[in-house]
Amino acid sequence: MSVAELDPAAVSAALGECALIGQGEARIEVHAALDSTMEAAAALANEGAAEGSLVLALEQRAGRGRRGRTWTSPPGGLYASLILRPDEGMLRRLPVTLLGGLALVQAVDDVGGGARADLKWPNDVLVGGQKLAGILGELSKGAGGHVLILGLGVNVATSAEALAPEAGATSLAAHGTPPALATLLGAFARRFEELYLSVRRGGGAAILSEASARMPLLGKTVRLRLPDRVVEGTACGLNATGGLVLEVDGAREVFVAGEVEEVRAA
Ligand code: BTN
Repeated sequence: MSVAELDPAAVSAALGECALIGQGEARIEVHAALDSTMEAAAALANEGAAEGSLVLALEQRAGRGRRGRTWTSPPGGLYASLILRPDEGMLRRLPVTLLGGLALVQAVDDVGGGARADLKWPNDVLVGGQKLAGILGELSKGAGGHVLILGLGVNVATSAEALAPEAGATSLAAHGTPPALATLLGAFARRFEELYLSVRRGGGAAILSEASARMPLLGKTVRLRLPDRVVEGTACGLNATGGLVLEVDGAREVFVAGEVEEVRAA
């Protein structure tokens, strides 16, 4: 994988049709290697970087996953952190991480070389039931308002050996010809900002139905692992704010986080 595949000129060209990401005052940083793009983006946001600023790395030494896990980040993957400055209303409407997951599913439709991606609530992206990508949201509040760093890790041209430590992981290369990193980044950025700007204007219902249509676990019996308990029930759908509605023992409950898996008949 050559650095040229994600050089600043290729990135700027890929973001050429965007209205927000990488535009105006927004900064774009491309690094050969970082510990984590999340850390670098948080530092950039602290310096006052505008919404739409982006930090990219060709590999990460200490990539961060959800729930304190590590994210294996060898060359060949797309590792990006996007700086967002959502207001209270935006944060109440729909989880930005759900928008990130849906945007990546759509970007794979657009340029993924024939792979068909699905969403696993709340924001994993799978191909053929294996994990293609993860989305991480880190929210903080300072004097200037909220900062949300949206992290995106995608196994694109990642070799099978490099994927091995991630149980159940796959890459776009395993399902066809993987796109150039900049091409996938551009497709993701266009899809994401379309969703984000729509929610910012008060939209959301159409996005929820589109996200639901890409969640094969809906309608199935699932097990949801929470920090303090495990719940089994039927996944009925998403509520108006993106929570997972489960029917458990005849009653409906809404969950905002957790690890979900299908319960298969023995
Ligand atoms: C998950 O656990 O599923 C979320 C993984 C998120 C990984 C991405 S890679 C780019 C950004 N930098 C990180 O350290 N993590 C996120």
